[in-house]
Amino acid sequence: MPDFYAVIGNPIHHSKSPIIHKEFARQTHQNMQYEAILAPLDGFETAVKRFQQRGGKGMNVTLPFKLEAYVISTRLTDRANAAQAVNTLKFDENHGILGDNTDGAGLIRDIEVNQSVVIADKSVLLMGAGGAARGVILPLLEQRPRILAIANRTKEKAQVLQEQFSSHGNILTGHYQDFSGERFDIIINATSASLHDELPPLPTGIFAEKSTAYDIMYGKELTPFLRFAKQQGVSNLVDGIGMLVEQAAESFFLWRGVRPETRKVIEMLRKKGQ
Ligand code: ATR
Repeated sequence: MPDFYAVIGNPIHHSKSPIIHKEFARQTHQNMQYEAILAPLDGFETAVKRFQQRGGKGMNVTLPFKLEAYVISTRLTDRANAAQAVNTLKFDENHGILGDNTDGAGLIRDIEVNQSVVIADKSVLLMGAGGAARGVILPLLEQRPRILAIANRTKEKAQVLQEQFSSHGNILTGHYQDFSGERFDIIINATSASLHDELPPLPTGIFAEKSTAYDIMYGKELTPFLRFAKQQGVSNLVDGIGMLVEQAAESFFLWRGVRPETRKVIEMLRKKGQ
């Protein structure tokens, strides 16, 4: 009998998680099945419990349920606690639910291992102060950047994050224009602007020499942020496909105790035109 896993979200038809996890399972010879589950917007918990009762061993959680997944977890990893959001559930035999968040670890692995960009001692600008940004702050601070700044349209939201993470490291906050005249080595777009084909109001001249522009979103074309970075002379333009595969690999490791090879899977998704 295979072990059952699933990704749950709404919508879910676009999810690449089934392809990624099937490839990981094939590669590491794991006897498991992985499906996509569409949950009604008001039926997340019921759908999770149903899957658990069917013998499911774990789930990936995507939008818009990451906060609800955090709430229904009976135990949380430190990184899920810091993110206040859960993207991975692991069920145990006595109906407990471990909630984890592998998004930040996926981002760090993609930057440091796949892109060979070291975060330590670099100046890093994180754009956005929503759920996606919150999830990557602790993992970024753990790499000991020289500066971590958060820019957001609504400055107060960035300040809330600054306070929440103050015991883990020093964070600067401001509106985008407050950083005019500064230069950053790594700029990460964790806003949802790319989803609406929009560009946050970044000042020109904000990229340092040999900098990296990272958009956690991805699509067939460059996102508006990556197009802007290119116009500003940045050559290391990275979209979120690597992070997607790396966060999946972290979940897979949590469930199965084996670390799959990610590079080929990233290449495969890129070849498929995502
Ligand atoms: P998520 O969970 O995906 O992060 P969210 O919590 O709704 O979603 O947060 C969206 C983030 O994208 C916020 O930081 C938002 O900025 P505000 O807090 O000022 O609203 C940011 N965002 C969305 N569209 C944007 C745009 N066009 N320009 C700049 N920032 C944008």
